[in-house]
Amino acid sequence: MSLQETSARHIIPWAKPVFAGREKEYVEDAFVSTRISGGHYIERFEREFAAFCGSPHGLAVSSGTSALYLALRALGLGPGDEVIVPGFTFVAPVNMILETGATPVYADVDPLTWCLDPVSAGGKVTRRTKAILPVHLYGNVCHMQGLLDLARSKNLCVVEDAAQAAFSSCQGRYAGTWGDMGCFSFHATKTIFMGEGGGVLTPNRSYYEKMLVLRDHGMRKDKRYWHDVRGYNFRLTNLQAAVGCAQLENVERIIHCRRKVYEWYCQYLNVIEGVTLQVFRPEVTPVVWTMAVRVDPRYFKGDRDFMMKALGRAGIETRPGFYPVSAMELYQASPLPVAEEIAARIICLPFYSDLSEEQIVLICEEIKKIRA
Ligand SMILES: Cc1ncc(COP(=O)(O)O)c(C=O)c1O
Repeated sequence: MSLQETSARHIIPWAKPVFAGREKEYVEDAFVSTRISGGHYIERFEREFAAFCGSPHGLAVSSGTSALYLALRALGLGPGDEVIVPGFTFVAPVNMILETGATPVYADVDPLTWCLDPVSAGGKVTRRTKAILPVHLYGNVCHMQGLLDLARSKNLCVVEDAAQAAFSSCQGRYAGTWGDMGCFSFHATKTIFMGEGGGVLTPNRSYYEKMLVLRDHGMRKDKRYWHDVRGYNFRLTNLQAAVGCAQLENVERIIHCRRKVYEWYCQYLNVIEGVTLQVFRPEVTPVVWTMAVRVDPRYFKGDRDFMMKALGRAGIETRPGFYPVSAMELYQASPLPVAEEIAARIICLPFYSDLSEEQIVLICEEIKKIRA
């Protein structure tokens, strides 16, 4: 069956969870043990994920969103505080800042890396600023040295959103281990996944202990049913962690496969005029999350949305770039010229660890067919 004949059905999905090894065995083990809520896979995942990333403390939680919320709550943020965040991002970090009662202050992104611009961030600092929340977009790593210098000079905390950048590194240091806390998502589309799930890494024992209590209803660890703070149920289950442990066991292979997929894309996309790739600074070693490309409509028969529809008809599932917060009334943001220019031109192409070279050639051929 040709791609055209299957037009109604996506045959190359945008993302796909690829089971790397012992997922089924570990889930069955957790199931048979009857430890389906708490259980040893959770502690194992926390220990092994933190060790792999070189972080002293790891906490597993129910999602990337709850990871962000716990991190911001551990900082004690509330009304009157400001947090600097990029205006071009998946919106979870913005929503979680708002949820604490603090005010998100939107900075623009770099036109090449598409990540938080330290200069723009610096221009947003006021006497109310308490933290910077860089988002490592699409697997890139933000200019952390510049952001940490800014944070130190103004006495600000740094919470990294590494949901899209697990195992990407800069100068040999993993995304999510540069700041006071780093937050991760293990959603089904992510580099390692559990269906739903998240995590926080921190070098700071006090933040870790606060999050441990907040994750479990705010209940004191040494006094059951005693609460000094209002908390949540942001726990991960043993079944989800079992999947995560199996993924982590094969993480080197997953990283290798994703690098290969990225190399193939570079090889075949670089020859298509009008398509540009996100720039990774030389010191960044990315593990790409999704193949985000910027398209110049002058070289194609239509704009980004036209191209996505054409690819969809050819059986290739894609996603658009995120809308900048300034485009959505809800977030009441001032204009963000770079974010606005980039966002409308980004297409995220299929990306997962067993995507084949043949499939990538096919995707690139379909893009070429849309050329003007
Ligand atoms: C940058 C970013 N932050 C946070 C999240 C939220 O993660 P989750 O979906 O696990 O809650 C996501 C999810 O895609 C994300 O891309």
